[in-house]
Amino acid sequence: MRGKEFMAQNLSEVLLSEEQIKQRVHELGEQISKDYEGKDVILVCILKGACIFFSDLARAMTIHMQMDFMGISSYGNAQKTSGIVRITRDMDLSITDKHVIIAEDIMDSGLTLTHLTKLLSSRNPASLRICCLLDKPERRECEITPDYCGFIVPNKFVVGYGLDYCGEYRNLPYVGVLKKEVYSEK
Ligand code: IMP
Ligand code: MG
Repeated sequence: MRGKEFMAQNLSEVLLSEEQIKQRVHELGEQISKDYEGKDVILVCILKGACIFFSDLARAMTIHMQMDFMGISSYGNAQKTSGIVRITRDMDLSITDKHVIIAEDIMDSGLTLTHLTKLLSSRNPASLRICCLLDKPERRECEITPDYCGFIVPNKFVVGYGLDYCGEYRNLPYVGVLKKEVYSEK
């Protein structure tokens, strides 16, 4: 059986526990609610990696808002994006004159979010901000930082809480570092 124990065996360490994540997501929800009080907000989930973070963040927010979803796929291998981003599913809502917050799992090179913010800015939102669960600033290749960030993480490949390796590990309730041998074997 390849259950959660199997997934845990492939990790070298647990970086962020379920409890740590829960507390921080709650703080982010409170902060964002305070900053956007009285505004028309659209929270956008970047599929698939942000799905779990997005669901918890939305419930930690106490303001009126709408939700939408965007599917993105970037060419490259499992550990590194090429920066060439393809929209696999666009949003349904119009964001013109709305306050848009992008919920993303992790900012790594920054290429994906640079591309995405350019695209969404062209639709003339009232404002556009990025909320990332994780930030790996050591790997940055362009000038971009998240407006809201859950945790700064070291330059290691992490999985869980929505983050995947080849589509797997997303359902781990915590964030762990994937053992090097796991991704060098494939
Ligand atoms: P960027 O364009 O390099 O910033 O890449 C962002 C995307 O790469 C994220 O949305 C993730 O899908 C993926 N990614 C980057 N680092 C990791 C990681 O450590 N684990 C899992 N996915 C990652
Ligand atoms: Mg992703």
